[in-house]
Parts: sequence; structure tokens; C-alpha cells
Amino acid sequence: MPIVTLAPDVYCVGVKDPGLAIFDIVIPTEHGTTYNSYLVKGTEKTALIDCVKRPFAAELLRNIEEILPVSKLDYVIVNHSEPDHAGALIELLERNPTVTVLLSRSAKTFVDNLVNAGFPFRIVGDDDELQLGGKTLRFINAPFLHWPDTILTYLEEEKILFPCDFLGAHYSSPHTFNDELHEPAKARKAFEFYYATIMRPYKEHILKACERLKDVPFRMIAPSHGPVLRKDPRDYLAYYEERASGVEAGHREKGGDRVRFRLREHGGDGGEGGGRGGCGGAHAGAVERRGGPDGTDHRSDRRVRWIADRTPTLNSNVPHPILNMIANLVTLNIRGKAASVFGSYGWSGEAIKTVQDILTSMRIKVAPEPMKVRMAPSAQDLEACVDFGRKFAGIAGGGAP
Ligand code: FEO
Repeated sequence: MPIVTLAPDVYCVGVKDPGLAIFDIVIPTEHGTTYNSYLVKGTEKTALIDCVKRPFAAELLRNIEEILPVSKLDYVIVNHSEPDHAGALIELLERNPTVTVLLSRSAKTFVDNLVNAGFPFRIVGDDDELQLGGKTLRFINAPFLHWPDTILTYLEEEKILFPCDFLGAHYSSPHTFNDELHEPAKARKAFEFYYATIMRPYKEHILKACERLKDVPFRMIAPSHGPVLRKDPRDYLAYYEERASGVEAGHREKGGDRVRFRLREHGGDGGEGGGRGGCGGAHAGAVERRGGPDGTDHRSDRRVRWIADRTPTLNSNVPHPILNMIANLVTLNIRGKAASVFGSYGWSGEAIKTVQDILTSMRIKVAPEPMKVRMAPSAQDLEACVDFGRKFAGIAGGGAP
């Protein structure tokens, strides 16, 4: 990736990864991604803001060398210590063992475990500044955007905000700035998808950061993934604030806390006889809710109030679609929500307990106790289903578990 100048003596020296199809093994990246890294050169000192993913370390070092020898670099700022940004720090420290790493206290532990060796460092706190000579970097604490270690870096003289993942997008293109893109709608979609898949669970922290940034007169946002936001940077922050505050039109919860239950009996759905491995197909009860959680709809920002997971058992385990749905719940803020599990089975029904354990490990109290029915529900089972549904409705509506 060629060096791009953002402002006098401020360069993007990062790398592009246009072929990346899946990020962190779970997030589809239709347009690849970029690992942006920025060099800020003062009259006295030079600082690098974030590194890149480790396999791209050589390219990063080559890019830096176009501006100055890596051995002359004075500081590296770790806004966030995930390996897609801090990974190349290992190679950088090998080339320049005297460079001082600036990072939050929380990041220090992560970077210690990443580098597995000592290195010169300085812990920075909120509003601390670093003078480079004619260039002033100010640090803004922004924990949980999206790791506890996160800081944002602000270059005062050029009014550029470097927020790492915050306000980023998995979007690679031949261009650097958002006002140069040939397909801006696709980039915008990637920006919104990034919010939904990575930032959405941290709404209260997003709102704190939005409040804090109201008084920061930035004119450009240079995140560590995706385009540099030179055109209308405030609009991107406004999008985060709007989504996090939940006031956007068309996404309000309708119908208050009303919970609609539907109990139905199926016979033979998915292999009534249990068969090999015992996949019971008779659903003991189905709990549905208009506007309920949809773990696969990343664009939805509906507020999750409760989770009722229905699962059969397949070969003594949880079928893949159910596991997939649970995996997608991590992109939502579900801690403390009402949840329970129910289903039917043929042989032994282990999936119910497995799902209960997974939800419990996600700090969700499962109540009422999950219920399972062997094969097709009897009249007595159906009564128990109704009782289960009523109890669950009471809890989801605010009653005690
Ligand atoms: Fe782009 Fe949280 O790493």
C-alpha cells in the first residue's frame, strides 16, 4: 500500500488485506479489510499510532522506512492491543528495542502477553499529552470500545482523531479517504455492519465517548480499519450515537413489554422416532415474540428483552443452527436478560442442558427451569408447557425469576 499523506508530516503507513473473507473466524468481510497505521512526525520526535496484523509486519516496516529509519522511531501508541493492530509490534520491537510503547494500564497486560518480553513503555491516562515538537498527541480514555484497554488519540494541531476500531469499517479499496471512494454506499454499509457486529454491545460506552468527543474539534477521523473519514466525519459519530441511544426511527420497540406466546404441538417434525442418535422432533412448545431477538440479523438494532431457545437433540448434542444462533447473541447486549430453554427429544435430550449451560456461561440466568418432553407431548406435558410459558412470560414481563 503506498504511503498516503493525511496532513503535513502525518502519514498512513498501514496495509490492505483485500482478500480477507472472514475476520476473527466469524465476521464476514465482503470487501476485505485494512490495518491502518499512522506515522506522526514532529520536529523533535516521531510516533507511530497502532501497528498492523503480524503477517503484514514486513510491509509496515517497509512503509515506515519510506519516511524515516525504523530505528529512529521514538514512540508507538497502542490504542488497542488486539493482534490485528498490535501483532506487528513484536517485529517492530526486534528492529527498534528502544522505542517507547504508550498504552493504557489495561493494555499493558495484554501487550505483555502478546510480546512475551520486556519493552520500554509508558502508561497514559485520560487527557495526557505527548509532545513531538509542533505536534501534540492527546489521549482519551475510551474503555470497552471495544476492549477494556481502548484509548483514542487526538492530534491537536491537525485536528485528526485516531480511534482505532471505534468508527472503523472492514472495507478495503484502492483509495484511502471516504470522499474518493467509487462505491461509497458499499463502504457505508460496511461501516454500519461493523458497528452492528463489533460495537453494538457497548452502547453505554459509546454514548460516553460521544459525549466526550462533543468538545473535540476533529475535522478528520482516521480509524484503524477502512477509509479515513475526511468528508462529514461528525455524521459517522452521530450514527453511533443514534444507534446506541436507540432513538432512531423505525427501530423503536412497539407494543411495550407485551409478550405473545404460541403453544403448538408438532408430531414427527424432524424424526419423531428418535432414530440414530435420537433427534426428537416433537416440539413441546414454541415461544415466539413479534420483534424478538434475531441473532442473525446484524442490521437489526432491536432491544433484546428475552430469549426462549427451542432445541432438539442430535447425536447427544446441540444442532448447528441452534449453536449458530447462540453464537450470534454475542453481538447483542444480552447479559441479565430473561431466558430459558425447551424442546423435545427421542433418546436422552442432552441439548437442553447444554444450551442452559452455555447461556449460564454468558451470565444469563435461565428461568424457569428448562423443560423437555420425550417424543410427542401428552396432555399432561401440554399443561406443563402452558405453565412453563406462563412462568416465562411473568419473568420476561418483569416478574421475579
Ligand atoms: Fe481491529 Fe479489536 O481489533
